Amino acid sequence: MPDTDSARWSLLAIGRFPDEVKSDFQVAFDATFIDVMPPEGPNRALGARDVLLLSFGSELRAATIRSLPASLKAVATYSVGYEHIDIAAAQTRGLPVLNTPCVLTDAVAEIGMLLMLGAARRATESIDLIRSRQWAGWNPTQLIGIELLGKNLGILGMGRIGRGVAQRARAFGMTIHYHNRSRAKSELEDGATYHPQFADMAATTDVLLIAAQSSAETRHYLNAERLALLKHGAIVCNVARGDLIDDRALIAALENGRVRAAGLDVFENEPNINRRYYDLPNVFMLPHVGSSTIETRLRMAQALILGLQTLKAGGKPTNRVV
Ligand code: DGY
Repeated sequence: MPDTDSARWSLLAIGRFPDEVKSDFQVAFDATFIDVMPPEGPNRALGARDVLLLSFGSELRAATIRSLPASLKAVATYSVGYEHIDIAAAQTRGLPVLNTPCVLTDAVAEIGMLLMLGAARRATESIDLIRSRQWAGWNPTQLIGIELLGKNLGILGMGRIGRGVAQRARAFGMTIHYHNRSRAKSELEDGATYHPQFADMAATTDVLLIAAQSSAETRHYLNAERLALLKHGAIVCNVARGDLIDDRALIAALENGRVRAAGLDVFENEPNINRRYYDLPNVFMLPHVGSSTIETRLRMAQALILGLQTLKAGGKPTNRVV
């Protein structure tokens, strides 16, 4: 495909995208779609196209990045996270990588509320009971949970998503605490109490919400030692990445009641999650649907389209990772 000023960039998209999203990419680019990464890698399907679009489930490791055609001008990932791409290899090669920051915040923050409510109000047991057709009718002792009203929410990672959950949780009457490496500006804090030490926040936490970034340093951050710092019977929720939690430690705490319940949308080794979660009635779990709204999916497409068009015009996209 010629790359003249007037021509649209050509793009190969690997993965499954909603029809509305495909239409948006088709308007902006000369776009071709394939559902899965070919076993031999993307190069044959890619040919001389300008852009490779992919998402989770399509890995681009260093050797593949080194072998990509010289004509390729950018890789775009339809996700905020880019752990499926070897960013260092892309940087060495001078290959721009774009992602979709900012636009997932509201959808994921809403899922944060769903997780907290699902865990606090015993949603898994309630759904199982009614769907099993064994429900014998209302009685005052059935499935008693706890309210979020008046509880302390401890947020690990007060970035955009953490703040989005804080904003919604305030409306539920929760008091917001957070732990970050550094304190947020006061307008972003919006009255939340900053704890430089996790232990100090944990001691006041009724509901812990994990919204921190995952990295080699944060792997298994919530381990047995830190779980033991939480108030007895606290709830643990995770909207970030599964590897922030040491599953074995959380499962043990859920089994012995140290942790009352968990609300989990993300898991280590997705989709091959720790099987013991399936048997715990006090786990309300979802299959990584945090960003799964049509509004967000369309915003993700627009973020990449704008970024790629900015790159083509010689500008600096705000969503360029490298
Ligand atoms: C992302 O884009 O990184 C999300 O985790 C997908 O929901």
